[in-house]
Amino acid sequence: MADEFRPLKNAFGKFATGIAIATCVDANGDFRALTINSFTSVSLDPALLLWCLENKTAAYPHFMEADAYALSILGAGQTALSNRFAGRAPEPPAPDEYEIWETGAPLLKSRIAGFDCRIHRRHKAGDHAILIGEVVRFDSNDDGPLVYYASRYYSGLT
Ligand SMILES: Cc1cc2nc3c(=O)[nH]c(=O)nc-3n(C[C@H](O)[C@H](O)[C@H](O)COP(=O)(O)O)c2cc1C
Repeated sequence: MADEFRPLKNAFGKFATGIAIATCVDANGDFRALTINSFTSVSLDPALLLWCLENKTAAYPHFMEADAYALSILGAGQTALSNRFAGRAPEPPAPDEYEIWETGAPLLKSRIAGFDCRIHRRHKAGDHAILIGEVVRFDSNDDGPLVYYASRYYSGLT
C-alpha cells in the first residue's frame, strides 16, 4: 500500500539530524527504550530540550506516564543500536550497557552526549506528543556523530 505521507516524510527528511535513544522507567520498574531523531535543544536557562513521541508507538503510554527520561546521543558507527531500539518490543539495555544518574532512567554507555531529564511539560500535537525535559545532568565527548538524513545513516563526519 502506498504511504500517503511519503512526500511529507521526504521533505521533513531533508533536515539532517542526529540519533538518540530515549529511555524511561515504566510503572513496573522496567526500562523502555526508543530510537528518536526529533531531538531539539530549547533553552539554556533553565536547561530544556524536547523530542516528539508518536502516539501509535508501543512505548507511548510509558513515556507519557514517566516523570523523567534520559537521552543518549549516538556516535558514528552505532547504526546497530539505532536499529535495535527502533524495532518492535526491543530488548531493554542490559546491565553492562547502561549507567544511571539522577532520575533512574538509563543512559547508554555508548554515546557522544547524555541528558538526564525530568519532565517539564507535555504537549499533545497531532499524532505526536512533545516531551519537554529539564536537564538535571548531562555530559558530552569529542567523538563524531551518527547522522540521519533522507532515511539513511551517515558516519565519519569528524
Ligand atoms: C531514524 C529513526 C528515527 C525515529 N524517530 C522517532 C521519533 O523522533 N519519535 C518517535 O516517536 N519515534 C521515532 N522513531 C520510531 C521508533 O524508534 C520506533 O521504531 C517505533 O516507534 C516503533 O513502533 P512500534 O512500537 O509501534 O513498533 C524513529 C525511528 C527511526 C528508525
